Amino acid sequence: MSRKIIIAGNWKMHKTNSEALQLANQIRIKTTDITRTGMIICPPFTALAPVYEVIKDTNIGLGAQNMYWEKEGAFTGEISPGMVKSTGASYVIIGHSERRQYFGETDDTVNKKIKTALENGLKPIVCVGESLHEREENITDRVVKLQVELGLVGLSADQMKKVIIAYEPIWAIGTGKTASPEQAQEVHLLIRNILSKMFGSGVAEEITLQYGGSVKPGNAESLLSQNDIDGALVGGACLKADSFSDIIHIAEGLTKA
Ligand code: PGA
Repeated sequence: MSRKIIIAGNWKMHKTNSEALQLANQIRIKTTDITRTGMIICPPFTALAPVYEVIKDTNIGLGAQNMYWEKEGAFTGEISPGMVKSTGASYVIIGHSERRQYFGETDDTVNKKIKTALENGLKPIVCVGESLHEREENITDRVVKLQVELGLVGLSADQMKKVIIAYEPIWAIGTGKTASPEQAQEVHLLIRNILSKMFGSGVAEEITLQYGGSVKPGNAESLLSQNDIDGALVGGACLKADSFSDIIHIAEGLTKA
């Protein structure tokens, strides 16, 4: 497989600034030997700028977990793309299922955020995935297809090359239940086929498709060995430097030196 594996850690609402600095430092030390695997950490907004100072001379990228689409204005409590960029971040997670579930994100807001992230030089990590109910109703394909099509509508092929997509079945997030490698591969292939129809097969082949949902050192290899799984978006297991770096080393081992 020619696509580079990219492992991202979504810290969610964890870590005060001093805790964040400690974790970022430990991750930095444990990954100095990594040369082929992409690494991204996504601390809370408050820790972005300080964490950037720790990792700026490494090949670990920095990402935010959300942003608003307006440039500036009377939007109390929101953070603009330019503000995220000014911390040193170059990625932003958009449309995480927790944002869709608790904070009213829709495919339409996801689409607006993706576009403004790209306009501001941020690379979006766009999350899609079905709920347990939707899987049991056998409508996973339809749900994911709609999220991909509506979320990415209006993007050019060139813009799309800067987007990472994370398939995160909601029933596997934070539950300890992982999609089997075959289940995940099936949806990843579906997503790649949709991208191929929307942006052409060349672009679709280049795009990094991450899997997310209870990824840990024990299941990373079987997931990352699948043809269309090019990385992982890790929640719980990224809060400890040991487990996050173990997953990164497993990815590194899967790519040729
Ligand atoms: P988890 O979270 O690894 O704790 O399941 C993944 C995510 O929500 O991105």
